Amino acid sequence: MDPARKESGSTPHRRTPEPSPRDLLRAAAEFLTLHHTEERLGDPARRIAAARAEIADTGTYRHTTRELVFGARVAWRNANRCIGRLYWHSLSVRDRRDVRDAGEVAEASADHLREATRDGRIRALITVFAPDTPERPGPRIWNEQLIRYAGYTRPDGGVTGDPRNAGLTAAARRLGWPGGPGTPFDVLPLVIEDAGAAPLWFTLPEDAVLEVELTHPEYPWWHALGLRWHAVPAIANMCLEIGGVCYPAAPFNGWYMGTEIGARNLADTDRYDLLPFIADRLGLDTRTDRSLWKDRALVELNRSVLHSFDQAGVTVTDHHTESRRFLTHLGREERKGRPVGADWSWIVPPISGSATPVFHRTFEAVELTPAYVHHPEALERARGAVLS
Ligand code: ARG
Repeated sequence: MDPARKESGSTPHRRTPEPSPRDLLRAAAEFLTLHHTEERLGDPARRIAAARAEIADTGTYRHTTRELVFGARVAWRNANRCIGRLYWHSLSVRDRRDVRDAGEVAEASADHLREATRDGRIRALITVFAPDTPERPGPRIWNEQLIRYAGYTRPDGGVTGDPRNAGLTAAARRLGWPGGPGTPFDVLPLVIEDAGAAPLWFTLPEDAVLEVELTHPEYPWWHALGLRWHAVPAIANMCLEIGGVCYPAAPFNGWYMGTEIGARNLADTDRYDLLPFIADRLGLDTRTDRSLWKDRALVELNRSVLHSFDQAGVTVTDHHTESRRFLTHLGREERKGRPVGADWSWIVPPISGSATPVFHRTFEAVELTPAYVHHPEALERARGAVLS
């Protein structure tokens, strides 16, 4: 992939697998101090001493549930690419650190989706599975998100479905997944790996996956295009890193901002690439860029997404509202004396950037922990072992 591209160029990944006990203790002390300070728990010295003893004994230490909840929330607060951080403190946390078996991870992930979806009144939720320890790695979910659409590579080299997931689709097939019906919107199975063993695949139960069929506020024919998207974006392949401890399987979700679907997933040329198709249906002149057919198709596609989610009673936000909220968040954090890191190129919405206030300022990209990070090395190693 082109290294200059946004996706690969700035992927936050900081840590290679196990830190030394010294690094771990330093990270632990820093986190425990932050926790004690922000939650006004007094002097952290005793807690740090306990962690030190536990690390000397076992090579790692265990967070209390309260620390885990705080860590998961602050990791969201520290997510430089996320425009939706105003609600970081409302993140609900399911503590499933007792779970590492692939089948149980799959089951608990389906429960996660049910609890997050609530018929459309989506709530921000994270489920935390077993951490990596010196003794054994925690489980890993290969899917980028709990709900993703298959991308079937055709003999002619084209892809039916979401090209972004062609790799995972092929991997699932090799692991024995028979494939779905072959529509452009087949939900992929979960592919889950427990402690370096060969991953297993698990079909998501239908009642765990809410989808929205796209209609348009003005064009009755739009529905017949057969477009749809899933209601809940649940990132599943990032590691939650708290005080030096890595939780490799910790799927988390908020709710969608319409542009993620209407201006990226369905529109990017390396995704569903629907702008030429939509422009054609709208009767626009696609022979010249200067008719702004792409821009006009983008706007109608985005209206369709917001309209359809609203009609279906599924939580969705728009980029104007969310940009304003983000500035509210910055103001609040500033008053608390906490620096907010942000990546301008991710914060500014993919359409109508200059019509939103986040466009007209700059941000500092300070990287703080706790954090959600990618561990590409670990994943690649695992994939290589199984798929080569
Ligand atoms: N952009 C991703 C997608 O379109 C989802 C990323 C997380 N988004 C969110 N609103 N929490 O599926």
